[in-house]
Amino acid sequence: MKEQDVLLDVKQLSIAFQQKKQKVPIVHHISFSIQKGETLGIVGESGCGKSITSMSLMGLNQQTDTKGEIQFEGQNLLSLSEKQWREIRGNDISMIFQEPMTSLNPLMTIGKQMTEALFTHQAIGQKEAKAKAVDLLQTVGLKQAESLLKKYPHELSGGMRQRVMIAMAMLCHPKLMIADEPTTALDVTIQAQILRLLKKLNEEMDTAILFITHDLGVVRQI
Ligand SMILES: Nc1ncnc2c1ncn2[C@@H]1O[C@H](COP(=O)(O)OP(=O)(O)O)[C@@H](O)[C@H]1O
Ligand SMILES: [Mg+2]
Repeated sequence: MKEQDVLLDVKQLSIAFQQKKQKVPIVHHISFSIQKGETLGIVGESGCGKSITSMSLMGLNQQTDTKGEIQFEGQNLLSLSEKQWREIRGNDISMIFQEPMTSLNPLMTIGKQMTEALFTHQAIGQKEAKAKAVDLLQTVGLKQAESLLKKYPHELSGGMRQRVMIAMAMLCHPKLMIADEPTTALDVTIQAQILRLLKKLNEEMDTAILFITHDLGVVRQI
């Protein structure tokens, strides 16, 4: 493995919660790395610290005591300021979760959420943002993308919502997508479709995927 092909290099990561005066260790000295465009699976039983680990890769568990190194393209993410994190989050690294309802805004149309996410990171106009949103909704296999833009999350099925989440995660063409149990809440046939979609995005857009699951059957499929 060539040094310049390494995208993410996690070294001796340890995470602990501070509970009253006691420190509760959750993750102990884990190390792994992902190459550009690679898919890596992390499998472990519920409660073993998978989500805490993925949150730390997004800079989202600042209330914890986190030690070690998270090197992303040669930069240690653990030393970033909140402002620097905001530039990376959603842009270079994005994340999809088990339950899309918790990360989609119920009060905002799909179109609004997608274009706002684009405006955060890119200097583009309304028209261009809308075209990009439509294009991505089609890429993730959603038909009638134009009319979908006007819909609210509750108007979509679970599988459709997860596709919208994936489209949102891909908006800025991230180098790494973290998928934390992305199919656990879906029934088996929809699950297989979403896994195929992630595989396709990985191959066609060259986005590396960190795939987190408690299910060995699912990780085998991806
Ligand atoms: N805010 C918190 N304070 C204290 N302990 C927590 C907190 N959040 C999660 N934990 C504990 O951290 C452990 C790992 O949780 P999590 O990363 O969600 O596991 P997984 O995703 O592998 O199911 C669990 O034992 C959980 O109880
Ligand atoms: Mg979890």
